Amino acid sequence: MMDYDKKLIAAALEARRVSYSPYSHFQVGAALLTGDGRIVTGCNIENAGYSPTNCAERTAFFKAVSEGIYDFSAIAIVGGAREAAQLELCAPCGVCRQVMMEFCDPKTFRILLARSEEDYQEFTLEQLLPMGFGPGNLGKERAQP
Ligand code: THU
Repeated sequence: MMDYDKKLIAAALEARRVSYSPYSHFQVGAALLTGDGRIVTGCNIENAGYSPTNCAERTAFFKAVSEGIYDFSAIAIVGGAREAAQLELCAPCGVCRQVMMEFCDPKTFRILLARSEEDYQEFTLEQLLPMGFGPGNLGKERAQP
């Protein structure tokens, strides 16, 4: 296990604590690792109108991109019902996978789905989004940091 993975999962667990999820009570935290070793976190943010709800993963991505950060190497994701005694793996939704595809190399971007700092499974974006549609399909380079 890479040492940094533990730190990233710990940051995701911390972000989950501030999940705003009064409707589903399903609390999600995400921690995004940047190319230069910074961590940007996010939680899910729900809305009485339901559809404006933002997932934890996208909160982290949009926070980073809105601060000029475009270079990402990994994301840790933790999620589960507020009252759950133990977390189960929480896979990113399709919309979040597509947002990852915009900013991350599917062959190298690592997605850590964690129950705890010690217990997690690792995937590449390509594994979770095979044949993804990205900037390359429109003849564009992925955004450079
Ligand atoms: N959710 C996330 O934040 N990330 C995921 O990967 C799956 C779902 C949120 C959205 C909503 O607030 C709640 O979990 C239930 O769907």
